[in-house]
Amino acid sequence: MGGRGKGYHGKSGGAASPMRRARESIEMPEETAPTAPESAATQNPQPALTTIADIGRHEGQSVILRGWLYNSRESGKLLFPIFRDGTGTIQGVAHVKSVPAEVFEALKGLTQESSVIVTGKVRADKRAPGGYELDVENIEVVQRVPESAPYPITLKEHGVDFLMEHRHLWIRTPRQSAILRIRAEIMRATAEFFDTGGFIRTDPPILTPAACEGTSTLFPVDYFGDPAFLTQSGQLYAEATALALGKVYSFGPTFRAEKSKTRRHLTEFWMVEPEAAYMDLNGLLELAENCLAHIVQSVLKNRGPELVAIGRDITKLEPVKAPFPRLRYDEAAEMLNQAYRDGKLEQPFEYGNDFGSPDETWLSSQYDRPVMVHRYPANVKAFYMEPDPDDPRYALCVDVLAPEGYGEVIGGSQRVSSYELLSERIDHHKLPREAFEWYLDLRRYGSVPHAGFGMGIERVVAWVCGLDHVRETIPFARTLHRIYP
Ligand code: 4AD
Ligand code: MG
Repeated sequence: MGGRGKGYHGKSGGAASPMRRARESIEMPEETAPTAPESAATQNPQPALTTIADIGRHEGQSVILRGWLYNSRESGKLLFPIFRDGTGTIQGVAHVKSVPAEVFEALKGLTQESSVIVTGKVRADKRAPGGYELDVENIEVVQRVPESAPYPITLKEHGVDFLMEHRHLWIRTPRQSAILRIRAEIMRATAEFFDTGGFIRTDPPILTPAACEGTSTLFPVDYFGDPAFLTQSGQLYAEATALALGKVYSFGPTFRAEKSKTRRHLTEFWMVEPEAAYMDLNGLLELAENCLAHIVQSVLKNRGPELVAIGRDITKLEPVKAPFPRLRYDEAAEMLNQAYRDGKLEQPFEYGNDFGSPDETWLSSQYDRPVMVHRYPANVKAFYMEPDPDDPRYALCVDVLAPEGYGEVIGGSQRVSSYELLSERIDHHKLPREAFEWYLDLRRYGSVPHAGFGMGIERVVAWVCGLDHVRETIPFARTLHRIYP
């Protein structure tokens, strides 16, 4: 491996030295190292092992942090290393007179992203971004990044292609790790919403024999000589488990061989898909608005510092509470026509089509929270959508459009419940009947009205974080031209 630095021990040295204790505790699950037994020799408690996020609890005390050197500034006798540990960053201060010579030497000229175990005293400082600084007392360099092959991502600007090529390292930067923490909160809040709302999580298969969302975006897999596909959506299976368990949801990766290079499309993305027996379109609209409101309010409550770190304008998120505005497709189409007549849209909207990205952007910009567009013309929507009994040219479906131009984050519908109609639709869409026999069984045996939706996690993360591309919303994005790293 090379470059493995040696440990620098403080004055105390020996078995009870802070560094030895930190090393030993690498395998320990606890965040805080146990304090040494009281004895005359150990008047001062051992520095506690902590994290940068938790450092405020240790003001005035010495602590141990395990992490990496994010950056450093040096001015002669004063060093200002900035450490990161995955939970945040903190600036350290080391004066040549205040630390042992070997500690100063180890820190001076230390290369970016070298891994370190550092001991220091926590000092409150109002000017510091996190509110605290660390007066360095000791350091152990775990691995020193050699000068000859420095860390490739410097603090200067890099192009997105370069950063995506180095995504495995890019995620270490504070902005990217803040986005991933917000993503995790969105996923946690999503699961919480359904778990506490009486929905049972049922996991659909990823290898499937048939298409759910059109045959043009299937990823084929050779299944022991038989054709199979990566799932585009767990919906059809969620319908089966909903008829078994009542209210269910699936939450997992889904795949679309999208040939589009837009800022909203990934080829592999995560979807949450609730499905409920006896739910109608109205129930579904309520479920969708409550779900999104819960997610956004949870992020505001639990990930405030991360939102600040990425510069998100949170006044844009605060109004996201139920109820959301609702528009029939026809009303939305009329709004778009009016906008075109007023010169606010460049292209006229062609009635009967799905909305294009500029249409969605304009529609959603009329509101301070997501807008729910329902009852699209049935022929632009999926085969499984229930026609509106009041006018079967329309489908009992909804697209939820996020504000600020983020567009569709949720798509859902009531499902066809009649065997005859579903059977006809499967033939009309030229879907392979054999692969759908089990799905037709759901209409043969105890069919009921039921509804569900799919919410793309990356689209929600992009909106909540205010990002211009979904590629930064997932640790390792899969897009038309990228499957590395
Ligand atoms: O609208 P979609 O295609 O709906 C379905 O798949 C239904 N079977 C879901 C259901 O009713 N259970 O996809 C649902 C959502 C979209 O609103 C969008 O947020 C996201 O999935 N999505 C994508 N996200 C990223 N990249 C892509 N290529 C996406 N395609 C859809
Ligand atoms: Mg859709």
